[in-house]
Amino acid sequence: MKDKVIVITGASMGIGAAVAATCVRRGAKVVLAARGVANLSAVAEPLGDSALTVPADVTKRADNELIRDRAIAKFGGIDVWINNAGRGISRMVSELTDDDIDQMVTVNVKSIVYGIQAVLPHFKQRKAGQIITVSSGLSRFPFAPQRSAYSASKAAANLIMASLRVELRDQFPDIHATTVMPGVVATEFGNNALHGGIDNKRMPGAQPVDEVAQVIADVIEKPRAEIYTRPQMLELASRYFSAEDVATIEAGFGGPPR
Ligand SMILES: NC(=O)c1ccc[n+]([C@@H]2O[C@H](COP(=O)([O-])OP(=O)(O)OC[C@H]3O[C@@H](n4cnc5c(N)ncnc54)[C@H](OP(=O)(O)O)[C@@H]3O)[C@@H](O)[C@H]2O)c1
Repeated sequence: MKDKVIVITGASMGIGAAVAATCVRRGAKVVLAARGVANLSAVAEPLGDSALTVPADVTKRADNELIRDRAIAKFGGIDVWINNAGRGISRMVSELTDDDIDQMVTVNVKSIVYGIQAVLPHFKQRKAGQIITVSSGLSRFPFAPQRSAYSASKAAANLIMASLRVELRDQFPDIHATTVMPGVVATEFGNNALHGGIDNKRMPGAQPVDEVAQVIADVIEKPRAEIYTRPQMLELASRYFSAEDVATIEAGFGGPPR
């Protein structure tokens, strides 16, 4: 990790901010991107010269290119790009509007394609690099039906990443594409969801954000294709995807929040 240059989108709070602090502690330089300038500065301040902030909206292709250019200008290159920025929603499938779906696809799918396309030419030139996308356990299991369009957008993100992995495998074996799937994490994610919702920090069993940051830092040190931030989720995945009828497993999940 020492002296790696790591771009982190959605770094003004939550998982992104925790990943930044963890990676700097392990010797990395970080480039922090998000829209909220004051929050970005507050995250960067304790990290000193190891951090650069780039105010950016990742739903805009040009802003992803700006993040890349500012990172290379400051630190001379990029080793890891983390597509972490994202947003939830609180609407059942029966309630979704066109705008709800468009917003989820824009912030959770298009943004990661823009990030990938911004940094990939640089990684191809260096024949090395790592793209990490922070997806969600909800990309695999319908734990939370009110997150519907969010879950679908994260499932799309997983397949973008898997397709990228296969695209690069033969010609660029040292460019890694990694998907990270957290469960419920104690951040402002719930409060920031489109149409509001439940505060994640008050949900029983919410994973501490520093634990998630350690998992992400570890996967930079030892790249792999996919990782759940809790091992129980891998065990659930093996049961869910091998069930003859997934409804038997879904029967154990909660329904809509009351
Ligand atoms: N918390 C959970 O339970 C959980 C579980 C599974 C997966 N995840 C995923 O983990 C990632 C981080 O979530 P979190 O829990 O840290 O949420 P969070 O506390 O709400 O933070 C979200 C971050 O994304 C940034 N962001 C949102 N829209 C953006 C945009 N258009 N352009 C640039 N930055 C943007 C926000 O900054 P600004 O508002 O300042 O732009 C903020 O820094 C997300 O992809 C989320 O889907 C979270």
